[in-house]
Amino acid sequence: MEETLRTYNLFDPAVLADPHTVFAKMRSEPGLCRVEPFGAYAAARYEDAAAILKDPQRFSSEALAITAEPSWLGPNPVAQALISKDPPNHARLRALVNRAFGPTGMARLEAQVRKVSEELAEAAVRRREVELVDAFTFILPRNVIGYLLGLDPSTFSNFKRWSLAMGLITSATTPEQHEEIRFVVKEMKAYLTAVIEARRRQPGEDMVSDLLRAEVDGRNLTDEEILSFLFLLLPAGMETTSQLIGNAIIYLARYPEHLAQAREDKAHIPRFIEEVLRYESPIQLNFRIATQDVELSGTKIPAGSFVLGLVGSANRDERVFEQPDRFLPGREKGNQHLTFGYGIHFCLGAQLARMEARMALEALVSRVSSIRLRSPEVQWLPGYTIHGPAVLPVELVPA
Ligand code: HEM
Repeated sequence: MEETLRTYNLFDPAVLADPHTVFAKMRSEPGLCRVEPFGAYAAARYEDAAAILKDPQRFSSEALAITAEPSWLGPNPVAQALISKDPPNHARLRALVNRAFGPTGMARLEAQVRKVSEELAEAAVRRREVELVDAFTFILPRNVIGYLLGLDPSTFSNFKRWSLAMGLITSATTPEQHEEIRFVVKEMKAYLTAVIEARRRQPGEDMVSDLLRAEVDGRNLTDEEILSFLFLLLPAGMETTSQLIGNAIIYLARYPEHLAQAREDKAHIPRFIEEVLRYESPIQLNFRIATQDVELSGTKIPAGSFVLGLVGSANRDERVFEQPDRFLPGREKGNQHLTFGYGIHFCLGAQLARMEARMALEALVSRVSSIRLRSPEVQWLPGYTIHGPAVLPVELVPA
């Protein structure tokens, strides 16, 4: 007999307006909950969300491949990417791409990230009243991923449209949206295939060339594997990092004492960023599919069910974090949030994202004495998966 679990509609406007009250209720339920519109089983407690993420045998990431290829779209290279692979295939791909993300690659990038951050911050402060998503928070990660892959800067302006279309796949409903997404997949495929071919002919000091050179146990990545990885990397590297920087700026505006502290001592910035990651995670949920009948915290989950790890809720779990609803940089266990995932799929770009956010804040706080949000209510992006400001109109008061 199927258990009756409490069902919550995560897309109910009242829930969207105040998710943390609902997450707290979900955490107090005896087992898991069901959520609409996915009809998924949702783990709101830290322990359950982590249990799902660290058990790829029973909670498969193939769920992501299924959602990336709805019937109206057809083959989508991202469906074959690392993030939707389970063991043992995941380990081989991860070992191959890991190297390109190693300390050498990151060190190569650091000076460039600092330079772009300084330029963008300088221009934004000069304008004083400025919308920061377009002027700063999106442009920095967009340019960084472009440099990382050695792409032609004249093509960077396409990336926003591409990543918006890729992010829309699971929720696209109108024929026009379907048409646009089909077009973008074709356009990205043509562009990235040409990049791979060019690097094969003439390798350089960039990640695509590193990926072409990578070898584990005598095997290289195939061109299809590299294409899938680039399809994943382009949006993954931009959207989430942009939201992290945007969320951090909102909290610098809300807590001027932290802006002052960061100006006085740069060492405060990484602590501050870590708390922003916990408190307003740019990714609010992870998606899995149960490979067999499973029992978790007393809830029976039938094989084939969609399962969500609610990271946004886990990061506020009172069983792990003291006073979880207070924003307290430097708190105990502050870096134990699940924002970058957990286990085999732990975010490959975590160090890069932290470095970009640190450079962005260092550049900004050294130039401003205060940041004022021009609209007191933040206009958040719709939905849950990606969490951050849709627009960020601010006044930057020069130091
Ligand atoms: C604040 C920024 C970021 C956040 C919050 C974030 C979050 C995540 C999370 C939660 C996962 C695991 C997903 C799962 O288990 O299903 C993940 C995986 C991944 N992320 Fe990030 N990410 C960020 C930035 C980046 C950047 C900058 C890059 C690359 C340039 C990147 C590349 C990846 C890749 C390739 C994976 C797949 C790893 C695997 O499957 O083994 N991410 N990220």
